[in-house]
Amino acid sequence: MTLHTAQGIRFYDHEPATEDFLGAVLAGLRRRPRSIPPKFFYDAEGSRLFDRICETPEYYPTRTEMQIMRRHAADIARHLGDECLLVEPGSGSSEKVRLLLEALRPHAYLPMDISRDHLLAAAKRLADEYPWLEIHAACVDFTHPLALPYHPDGVRAVAFFPGSSIGNFEPGDAVRFLGNIRRMVGEGGGLLIGVDLKKDPVLLESAYNDAAGVTAAFNLNLLHRINRELEADFDAGAFRHEARYDADRGRVEMHLVSECAQAVTVAGERFDFAPGESIHTENSYKYRVEEFQALAEQAGFRPEAVWTDAAGLFSVHYLAA
Ligand SMILES: C[S@@+](CC[C@H](N)C(=O)[O-])C[C@H]1O[C@@H](n2cnc3c(N)ncnc32)[C@H](O)[C@@H]1O
Repeated sequence: MTLHTAQGIRFYDHEPATEDFLGAVLAGLRRRPRSIPPKFFYDAEGSRLFDRICETPEYYPTRTEMQIMRRHAADIARHLGDECLLVEPGSGSSEKVRLLLEALRPHAYLPMDISRDHLLAAAKRLADEYPWLEIHAACVDFTHPLALPYHPDGVRAVAFFPGSSIGNFEPGDAVRFLGNIRRMVGEGGGLLIGVDLKKDPVLLESAYNDAAGVTAAFNLNLLHRINRELEADFDAGAFRHEARYDADRGRVEMHLVSECAQAVTVAGERFDFAPGESIHTENSYKYRVEEFQALAEQAGFRPEAVWTDAAGLFSVHYLAA
């Protein structure tokens, strides 16, 4: 379905159905160990909490990635090229793209996100601030093969995938996802992607355990969302947020850990939890620059440039398709 908003934004609505959410939650709670995919964090409240995580002092990825982009804006814009079609899967609040828009003057901007209302609100704010910018927003689940809702002939497509969201995929799935992006942008296109780097586990673990408890609230919001949307009775107060770095696997894992023996009902089905039993809600894989470039090459991209900060916390790559 395509809608035209008052601001002239074209909006393509492919919001996943509630049955997808229900199916994933039931399947995830039936399997052992239990797990629910991270894409379900993002209802309107989850998107709002993610924005607050980005502002916590411990969460270095957002500010570091933005520093890198500010510092190298001209060089980055040169790689992306004038008048491209700029596509951003998982665009969230579309904050980072602001660092590119003036330098790039893209043909059009295509934000894509699973969090429908948050996406629309972000697109409207952008349309107000950049009246010259043509915007095509799409509510989609990017874990499925991606198609551009708008791609005029002869315009080069470039994807922008910041925030190290690539780390949420298992490495094999990351290669498949990057392959989907490469097919989406087509021959001659490109991908600007932010990738979090391996580092001191203390820094990594504190980034996912901020002192103000915003990441904990973000993780626990998944249980509130299940209660709100799926006729469930999770007692979120009886679960605790846990984030730990697994150095062997190179990933931060987030879990919701049951504080006691308890039973939960979701859509009429009962699930028993032992004390300490967890629901695994997210992985964030960390890569060395060469490790990530090898993944990108497996997906058919050619690494062309990489920018990092002085402390080596984060990397931004330009990959040619
Ligand atoms: C970690 S946030 C990053 C937001 C922003 N790109 C940034 O760098 O700050 C992940 C974003 O991707 C969206 N997202 C997560 N899984 C998704 C999926 N499967 N399909 C589409 N969007 C998804 C979320 O709604 C959220 O806006």
